[in-house]
Amino acid sequence: MPDNAMASDIGPELDVLRSALEALAAQGASEEMSGHLAAIEKAYQKLLFSLDRARKDKEVQFRLLTRTTTDLRTALAETEDRVRRRTRQLQERTEELGASNQALEQALADLKSMQAQLVHSEKMASLGQLTAGIAHEIKNPLNFVINFAEVSLDLIRELRAELRPMLALAGSERASVAEELLVDLEQNVGKVREHGGRADGIIRSMLLHSRGHSGTFQPTDLNQLLEEYAKLAYHGMRAQDSGFQVTIETALDPGLGAVNVVPQDLGRALLNVIHNACYAADAGRRGNTGEPGLVLISSRKLPQAVEVRVRDNGNGIPPELREKIFDPFFTTKPTGVGTGLGLSIAFEIVVHQHHGEIRVETEPGKFTEFILKIPQPVAAPAATAAKPSAG
Ligand SMILES: Nc1ncnc2c1ncn2[C@@H]1O[C@H](COP(=O)(O)OP(=O)(O)OP(=O)(O)O)[C@@H](O)[C@H]1O
Ligand SMILES: [Mg+2]
Repeated sequence: MPDNAMASDIGPELDVLRSALEALAAQGASEEMSGHLAAIEKAYQKLLFSLDRARKDKEVQFRLLTRTTTDLRTALAETEDRVRRRTRQLQERTEELGASNQALEQALADLKSMQAQLVHSEKMASLGQLTAGIAHEIKNPLNFVINFAEVSLDLIRELRAELRPMLALAGSERASVAEELLVDLEQNVGKVREHGGRADGIIRSMLLHSRGHSGTFQPTDLNQLLEEYAKLAYHGMRAQDSGFQVTIETALDPGLGAVNVVPQDLGRALLNVIHNACYAADAGRRGNTGEPGLVLISSRKLPQAVEVRVRDNGNGIPPELREKIFDPFFTTKPTGVGTGLGLSIAFEIVVHQHHGEIRVETEPGKFTEFILKIPQPVAAPAATAAKPSAG
C-alpha cells in the first residue's frame, strides 16, 4: 500500500532522529541548545502528525475507490442483465409478429378464395335467372316446331299413300323421282323433329337447373343411391354407344349410415359426375391412355360429413380448363354430345342446396377424381333415426 509504504520507508530515519534528540537531551545541553532541541522536537511531532493524516486520507480514498469499483461492477452486471432480458423480449415479440403475419396472410388467402367463390355463386345465380327467362321464352315456339314436324311426318306418310296409285299410272321414272323427293322430305322433317327434341332436352335441363330445388331432405342410403346411379350411367352410355367399354368398381363405406340429403337432386349431381367419368375413361381407352376404362366410386364417413369420390383413368383435365369446367355451357365434347350443363348443375346441387363442396383433382393423361363432400350435422335427428332402406 502506497501510504503505509511511505510511512515505513522513512520510519527508520525518524527513529534515528528520535534517538539522536533523546541522546542530546540526556547530555544536558546548554540553554540555547535546549531551545533548538525543543524546536526540533516540535517540528518532529508536526511531521509525524502530517504523515499520519496523509496515510489516513489515502486509506479513505482507497476505500472510496474500492466502493466505486464495486458499484460500477454491479451496475454493469445489471445493465448486461437488462440488455439480455430486452433482447429476449424482442426475440419473442419478433416471433409473435411473424406468427400473426402468417395468420394474416392465411386470412387474406381465405378471403380471396371466399371472394372468388362468391363471385362464382353470384355469376351462377344471375345466369340461372337469365337462363330460366330465356328457356321459358324458347320453350313455346320450340314446342310448335316439334309438333308441326311430327304432324308433317304423318302428312308425308299420308301423301305417299295417296300418291302411290297416281304415280303408278304416271310411269316408273316419274314415280321414282317423286318417291326420292318424298324420302328426302321425310328425312328433312325427321331431322327437324330430332334436333327439335334435342333442343327441348337442353331447355328442360336449363329450366331444372334454374328452377331451384323443391325436394325435401330425407335420410337416404347414399351407398345404395351410388350403386343405382352407377348402373343408370353405365346403361345410359351403353344404350347410346354399343362400343362403350368401361368397368365401374365401387368401394363403399359400410359404416356410412343414413345420410340426410335430397335423394333425387343429389342423384342427379352424382349421375352427371359418374357420366363424365365413364365418358372420360372410355375416351381414354380409345385414345391416349389405351388402358381399359375404369371408374372407381367410393364413399367415406368423415367426422362431420360424408365424402364421395368418383375417379376415372381417362385423359384428365388440362390446367387451363380446370377453372371453367363448372361454368354453365362449358364443354369440350363434340357438338350434340354435351350441353356443358352437367357439372354446373352438380355444383348448384352440392354447394348451394346441400351446403357441401365439390372439387377436382386431376393429372393430365392419368386420372381425374371428383370429390364431393356433404356436411352432416353430428346429431341430425332425421338422419340418425331412420335406417337405410333395403336394396
Ligand atoms: N372426368 C372427367 N375427365 C375429363 N374431363 C372432364 C371430366 N368431367 C368433366 N370434364 C370436363 O368438363 C367439361 C364440362 O363437363 P359438364 O359435365 O359440365 O358438361 P359436359 O359433360 O361437356 O356436357 P353434359 O354433361 O351437359 O352432357 C367436359 O366437357 C369436360 O371437358
Ligand atoms: Mg357432363
